Amino acid sequence: MDQKKRIFSGIQPSGDLTLGSYMGAIKNWVELSGGYECFYCIVDLHAITARQVPAELRKRTLSQIAQYIACGLDPDNNTLFIQSHVPAHAELAWVLECYTMFGELSRMTQFKDKSSKNADNINAGLFTYPALMAADILLYQTDLVPIGDDQKQHVELTRDIAQRFNAVYGDVFKVPEHFIPKIGARIMSLQVPENKMSKSDAAAGGCVYLMDSPDVIMKAFKRAVTDSDTVVRYDPESKKGISNLMTIYSAATGKSFAEIENAFAGKGYGDFKTAVGESVVELLRPIRERAETLLKNKDYLTEVYKKGADRAARTAAGTLRKVYKKLGFVERQ
Ligand code: TRP
Repeated sequence: MDQKKRIFSGIQPSGDLTLGSYMGAIKNWVELSGGYECFYCIVDLHAITARQVPAELRKRTLSQIAQYIACGLDPDNNTLFIQSHVPAHAELAWVLECYTMFGELSRMTQFKDKSSKNADNINAGLFTYPALMAADILLYQTDLVPIGDDQKQHVELTRDIAQRFNAVYGDVFKVPEHFIPKIGARIMSLQVPENKMSKSDAAAGGCVYLMDSPDVIMKAFKRAVTDSDTVVRYDPESKKGISNLMTIYSAATGKSFAEIENAFAGKGYGDFKTAVGESVVELLRPIRERAETLLKNKDYLTEVYKKGADRAARTAAGTLRKVYKKLGFVERQ
């Protein structure tokens, strides 16, 4: 019997994966994959809470699988799958919606934030999004959910839903814990370093994508916003841009902030930005090349996500069956 603890996490295919997705999430997933039984999902059902262009969504989803593998997630040791391929996610989400309160969903900061930004499309899916996320996590009897701190409230709600359900029906769900990695967790926009580097604010060049060419990466770093000072020093309060670049450089090279400060003492921001850009180019080069090769091998990718969905579905079916039975649904023959 495998006694490893379980991990579940997911990223929406609502935009291309960024340096922030890698340093803040996937890199950490790779590290965890040795010691845990991991389910890493591409949450396409979540992505349609915002309008998507179908052909682009399909392309990005496949590319995201290839990039997961290229970043070092071995599909033999991790369950890599596409959420919509495992119908139990949508099924359990419905059940959990009936155990989630309107008031709770109304208090979710992500809902408030997204609805204020997209006032013309405040759909019911956007509102019930956290119940679907709870279903993702609870279906697998997950122990740990590695996430960025913006998702902490959703995992807390997941725990509340699980406990509420368990209080009525007995021990059906494992109550998961969130897990926020310490370092490199928050990569900020290169243009607006007050904001998280996000797939959706590409326009201003604040974002570096995993598949960007060296040329594009170098340009983005050379244009990165800094400050009117000239000293490379870590100070996330008053030197947000430089501190973000230091975080990136540190994550890319393994150098500490003190080492970086020493190495660039007396040098200008120009040299520093070039060094950060080059470190990111070298970090991403093998990932991009590997993903490009994988994307040419459609049969292999299909095999990976098919195998992933089969494996995920088997685990998910067990939980859903138990839930339906507890609820009093007549067992399907
Ligand atoms: N809501 C998460 C995000 O936007 C993505 C997500 C969906 C997720 N389901 C999940 C993350 C389950 C962790 C576990 O980042």
